Amino acid sequence: MSEEQRTTEEIVGKVRPQPFPERGHIGAEEKVAVDAFLDRVIESGVLPFYDGDEELAYCAEFAAWLGGGYADAVSSGSAAMYVALKSLDLEPFGEVIIGAFTDPGGMMPIPLQNLIPVIADSRPNSYCTGPEQIAALISPLTRGIVVPHIAGEPADMDGIMALARRYDLPVIEDCAQAHGARLNGQLLGTFGDLAAFSTMGGKHHSTGPQGGVVYTRSEARYQAVRRASDRGKPFFLPPGSSNVTASLNFNLNDLAATIGRVQLAKLPASVERRRAIVGQLREGLAELDMVSLDQPRPGYESSYWFLPVQFHPAAAICDKATFCAALNREGLSVMVDYRAGMPHRQEWFVKRRVFGDSGYPWASPDYKGAPDRDFACPNAQAMIESHFNLMLHENWGSQEIDDALAIFHKAARAYTARH
Ligand SMILES: Cc1ncc(COP(=O)(O)O)c(C=O)c1O
Repeated sequence: MSEEQRTTEEIVGKVRPQPFPERGHIGAEEKVAVDAFLDRVIESGVLPFYDGDEELAYCAEFAAWLGGGYADAVSSGSAAMYVALKSLDLEPFGEVIIGAFTDPGGMMPIPLQNLIPVIADSRPNSYCTGPEQIAALISPLTRGIVVPHIAGEPADMDGIMALARRYDLPVIEDCAQAHGARLNGQLLGTFGDLAAFSTMGGKHHSTGPQGGVVYTRSEARYQAVRRASDRGKPFFLPPGSSNVTASLNFNLNDLAATIGRVQLAKLPASVERRRAIVGQLREGLAELDMVSLDQPRPGYESSYWFLPVQFHPAAAICDKATFCAALNREGLSVMVDYRAGMPHRQEWFVKRRVFGDSGYPWASPDYKGAPDRDFACPNAQAMIESHFNLMLHENWGSQEIDDALAIFHKAARAYTARH
């Protein structure tokens, strides 16, 4: 029998006839809260607009979850990064170092503020950048560092903060994909000078379909954040002051905050559940040669927004894309690589489409760096080639875990060379 025939035969008949369940993370509790909010609006005749009770309560609860400090709820994760960066008031045409893997919304705020993104490679075998990779890019033009924690995995914040302090550079943690992840017991978001979270509907906890939060432990930074997130309004300034900087209105709203409060209360259990699911997947996949899960470093507790899986071609008679296609056909949700997570390879970056055809900020005569610099990022490239991403969620039960493992084993059987 040819390899192709055997493969086709062994794939016929699905492990799981029904689809994997939708996430279903919005439930009766959120409905009760939203109904109560709308009841109050109807009874009082007053629709809160700026700084409503629900938004203020959500911000206070969010800060309390991170052990104190200050939170400002905004309209998206991209807005959170824009606002966090804006609050630093960096001189234009300086450089901001940022990890190679992130969402475009985590990177675009840099050139949008006339700053130059300088792309740091990942650590070997990781989607996150590290102190060594950042250190290699620090120059007299560097003005700040953005550290995306990708897939829920913590970046080495101790190393990065030590480096940043040595050069007196502010650090923004991008926690959009890492709510509830910890490094040596400490929650991500509490290491840097500022943190940006996305709370859109696909994240660990959501303020409804869209949203974001800027967090900081510094009162002065919080005050700058509030002005940056709402048209430079003279918050915390003497009476009679006027708007102090140009910005947009990035506020969240009370309806979203109402949902966010319920979701935030569910977050710790939901992160625990994701960890338990991955623990079981790790056990069940251990005997396969074709795939492996990276061993977490001691003290690194991911919150698993998704699960990176390494594919070992030497153990297979197929390539990674074929293996992933088999998993997807069986109903798992698998992304063959994380190419989409490299904004600096996207058209807007390559063609410098930020301010029309000007090529700014790179093309500005005020930029004294190397505008045509190439960021090869060999470790990040190796991750694209070696890994795929398995999507999972906290509402997988034991049946889903068993089925996922059975699917992996079935695909591995189909694509193992027989001697
Ligand atoms: C790392 C990272 N940063 C920023 C964002 C942008 O967040 P939003 O989609 O809420 O604007 C995302 C969104 O997925 C992200 O994953």
